[in-house]
Parts: sequence; C-alpha cells; structure tokens
Amino acid sequence: MTDASQDTFRAFVADHDAGVESAVREMTDADIADGDVLIAVEWSSLNFKDGLASVPEGKVARRSPLVVGVDLAGVVMDSSDGRFTKDQPVLAHGYELGTAHNGGLSERARVPADWVVTQPAGLTDREAMILGTAGFTAGLSLHSLEQRGLEPGAGAVLVTGATGGLGSCAVAILAARGYEVHASTGKDDAHEWLRSLGASEVLGRSDVEAHAERSLSKQLWAATIDSVGGRTLAGALTATHYGGAVAASGLTGGVKLDTTVMPFILRGVSLIGVDSAMLPIDVRQAVWNRLGSDYRPADLELLVDEELGLDGVAAGVRVLLDGGARGRKLVRPSA
Ligand SMILES: NC(=O)c1ccc[n+]([C@@H]2O[C@H](COP(=O)([O-])OP(=O)(O)OC[C@H]3O[C@@H](n4cnc5c(N)ncnc54)[C@H](OP(=O)(O)O)[C@@H]3O)[C@@H](O)[C@H]2O)c1
Repeated sequence: MTDASQDTFRAFVADHDAGVESAVREMTDADIADGDVLIAVEWSSLNFKDGLASVPEGKVARRSPLVVGVDLAGVVMDSSDGRFTKDQPVLAHGYELGTAHNGGLSERARVPADWVVTQPAGLTDREAMILGTAGFTAGLSLHSLEQRGLEPGAGAVLVTGATGGLGSCAVAILAARGYEVHASTGKDDAHEWLRSLGASEVLGRSDVEAHAERSLSKQLWAATIDSVGGRTLAGALTATHYGGAVAASGLTGGVKLDTTVMPFILRGVSLIGVDSAMLPIDVRQAVWNRLGSDYRPADLELLVDEELGLDGVAAGVRVLLDGGARGRKLVRPSA
C-alpha cells in the first residue's frame, strides 16, 4: 500500500497543451486536489478510452495535464465524507475520472465521494480491475437486456469485438449466467481462447458485417452485446430474433450506423444504448454487486492479457488503439 506520508507518487499523465507525449511523472497531493476521498490505488486497468485520452487526436482529455485512467481500485487513505472510512476497500470509474478529473493510472487518486463504489463482496480489488470499466459495461449491457426479458434459454447471444476488454468480459459473464454465446472477432488466432472463455461458436468479424447487406437477415441471435458499432452493429440488428434486442456501447468499428428501420418495425427489435460513464451511483453499485455474484465469470484469470506497471502503460494503450486488445491489461501502479 502507498505510504500516506510520502511526499511524491507516480502517475501516468497526458499533457496535450504542452505538446509532449503522455508519460509517467512524479506528483504531489497538491496536484490532485479535487475530491473528498483520497485513495491508495492498488490496481487499475487499461481501457480503449485511456488510449484516446493519451493522444491529442483522441479528444477525450478535457484538462491538461491530466492523470489518465478511467478505472481504479484500492483503499481509502483519508475521507472528508462520512460514508467512507480509512482502509476501506473501494473502487471508482466513469463520471469524469480520467477525462476531466485526474484518473486512476496513479499510485494515488482523489475523487468525489459520490463517485465511489464499495468493493463488492465476491471480488478482490485485483479481480474488480480484471473486470474494470470494460467488464462493468459488459455486465450493464446484460443487466439492460435482462430487464427487457432476456433469459438463458432464449437463444444464442452474440458478442462482437469479442477479444476486446468489453467483449471478452461479456463472453465470460454470459457463459457464467448459462447463456449460449456466439463470439465474433477479427483475430483468427483467438478462436480457442474465446471458446475457453465460454463461447460455443466463433465467427469472423466479416460474417456479422455481411448481414448488413440486407435490411432483414436470418434470425440468428436473441440478443447482441455490441462494442464495435458501424457495420457490425447494423449486421447484428438485421439478424436479431423477433422481439430481441441489441445493447450498443462502443465505436471501435465506426460511429456511423447505416441501416434500415425494418428490424424495428417488422420484428420489434430494440436497440438499447449503454452508457457506463454517467450512470447513477446506486445502479452502478447494484451492477457491481451482481458482478461479484451471479455475473461473476468462472475463471477471471483467463481474462488477463498482461500485468503492467506504470512504465508499461504507454505501450499498452498503443496496443489498444491499434485494435490489438486480447482480454484485459491490468495495471499495478506501485510495481
Ligand atoms: N458505453 C460505455 O459506457 C463504454 C464503456 C467501455 C467501453 N466502451 C467502448 O467500447 C469499445 C470497446 O472498448 P474496450 O475497452 O473493450 O476496447 P478494447 O479492449 O481495445 O477492444 C476493442 C476490440 O474491438 C475490436 N475492433 C478493433 N478495431 C476494430 C475495427 N476496426 N472493426 C471492428 N472491430 C474492431 C477488436 O476485437 P476483435 O478483434 O475481437 O473483433 C478489439 O479487440 C470502445 O469503443 C469503447 O470506447 C464504451
């Protein structure tokens, strides 16, 4: 654990106004002054958004300099808010963390108490960050689909961008809940790994995109958890069962959605938007509690691609920006 008395600590900082590359810097508590709860960060993780925050063209960083990192888990060092006490295990992600507020790729973080989640029973801080924002958003996607009536046995559920952080967590969470999982990926050499996570069928990325050629395609999936967008999302919509739904959360395949209304008006298909960033804290806590219980993947370690120290973050986010993710990159800031 970080020593509360130490004067400086290390953090991965984007400083786009200064025109320098994102890099590890020494900081003091005065550099992260905003927020009621001071947290010793034990674990963080890398997400696609951290890649975007690290580069000026990503247009995600809304202050400069910015400590990057949309995820963190650790213990409370100090709190001026009565809901949190010293040494309590907590986590935080979303809201403005790592975008307009200094984030979690740091040995220390200071955040508003309203953003802090109590570490759920059933997950250690390391396990919580194996999931992180990616796993949380996968869980939130399933939670949203189940609120609309999806249940195991309804038919196969498609996961797109399946080797990515969000996608791989979605495969593992769905399998843990007893769903039949179909996974689509652009990586031919990842099929066995996706099967080990719980996918019963693995498709190529282009197989899903091909369904976008028609306004209605064969009804293949009861639901889709999509983190890709673009033609992949259009393809998933046309091949969704009557009354099914697609939960859309991402844009790695593009921001444009070129499709027709046919799946909506002839099959009653729903398109559900999923946002994890501004979600109210009570829903956030409830989904985390599920991630520690009925949504908990059977073998969380299978999702871990690599463990990095802060010095490995610059290379790690580059891999994500290049579409090379394969599961989750954990970060141990004190390593
Ligand atoms: N709405 C929210 O609250 C929320 C929360 C978290 C993440 N997201 C978004 O979800 C997306 C995924 O995030 P992540 O952290 O899981 O990212 P990631 O770990 O970098 O994974 C992205 C995956 O997308 C696929 N992909 C990459 N380039 C692609 C392309 N050109 N066309 C189609 N697929 C491509 C790849 O999977 P395959 O090779 O297996 O196809 C890649 O592994 C991002 O857009 C992110 O911003 C949204």
